[in-house]
Amino acid sequence: MSPVPYLKFAGPVLDEATIAGVADVLRSGWITSGPRVQAFERALSTFCGGRPVKAMTSATAAVEVALQLAGIGPGDEVITSAQSFFTVLNMIVKVGATPVFVDCDLVTRNIDLGEVEAAITARTKAIIPTHWPGSLVDMDALLALARRRGLRVIEDAALVMGSQWKGRNIGAIGDLVTFSFHPNKNMTTIEGGALVVNDAAEGERVDALRFHGITYRPDRTRDVAFPGGKFNLPDVNASIGIAQLARLPEFLATRRELVARYFERCATDPSCVLPPSPRTGDGQSWNMFCVLLPLDRLTVTRRELRDALDAQGIGTGVSYEALHLCTLGRSYGYKEGDFPATERIARETLTLPLHAGMTTTDIDRVCAALAGIVAGART
Ligand SMILES: Cc1ncc(COP(=O)(O)O)c(C=O)c1O
Repeated sequence: MSPVPYLKFAGPVLDEATIAGVADVLRSGWITSGPRVQAFERALSTFCGGRPVKAMTSATAAVEVALQLAGIGPGDEVITSAQSFFTVLNMIVKVGATPVFVDCDLVTRNIDLGEVEAAITARTKAIIPTHWPGSLVDMDALLALARRRGLRVIEDAALVMGSQWKGRNIGAIGDLVTFSFHPNKNMTTIEGGALVVNDAAEGERVDALRFHGITYRPDRTRDVAFPGGKFNLPDVNASIGIAQLARLPEFLATRRELVARYFERCATDPSCVLPPSPRTGDGQSWNMFCVLLPLDRLTVTRRELRDALDAQGIGTGVSYEALHLCTLGRSYGYKEGDFPATERIARETLTLPLHAGMTTTDIDRVCAALAGIVAGART
């Protein structure tokens, strides 16, 4: 009998046409940013309701450039959720600003907007919320708050490419929006990301910020007035992005179907805290399926449980550690007990396999393995 293949917790679906498209770019004589990036940005702009979109080498680059575009630097504070990926903390610190953390909702995992309001000071310049799969930040409340308090908003939409707020794609509304096209995300360019901006002037500024700070003088010589980075996406990656964007609705439909199966299976085993249940036509996309484990009622640690799943050929992840309790976060004075929901999630969360290359049979296999381990480890 052949061994069961290892089930990765995330990963891309790449078809032969996409692979052939990469070969075409490699043979074309233009492999770094060029016509494919322009075509990818046009397609992304259409997806974002006609707003200007700039392709980048990662979402992390997009967040850094967004902060620079918003003029955020030393002396400024940026409010963000302690339950997110390291990108938000790192980029706030990298531009010289101060991260101000707030807690999240235990079930949706989205930033607590009530706590945001309370954390605003005279130094606050921006809010960076991370949208969670299955449930978006309340965009009406967020944008109203930002308008009322004169703050920029940088939406970390890395996990929700294809989610909709009241019928419009995330990216088509709001202020600055960042996407990730890392292989674990809803669509990929290998590494890559994008930044959605408000108008052509911001777009031109981003062009410079992502490419050495270069602008052109009338005599076609170059000038640099501020230090830019080097974050331009190559055409090879953009050609993958064009093909992936075309298949995004299909990928999202598969993910929805898989998540429905997780909910069906988990309903019969109430031991884990689940994300908010999906409803037909709710506009949500599902990049990850994260549960909270009943660790206080088990004789195994999360590490042991993950190792046991791994031994059965099932990969898992931890999304995410508490940002305020990593060494960099603590250096701003944060400590255990500051954000109870974030800390409980960081302790108990488990990311189960979910990607468009899976089948419902894979979900059944994961659920059976998890239920077996949990049943054998009850206190
Ligand atoms: C919530 C979130 N934001 C941002 C990022 C950064 O994305 P990238 O790897 O494209 O820089 C990630 C990556 O995993 C993420 O999970």
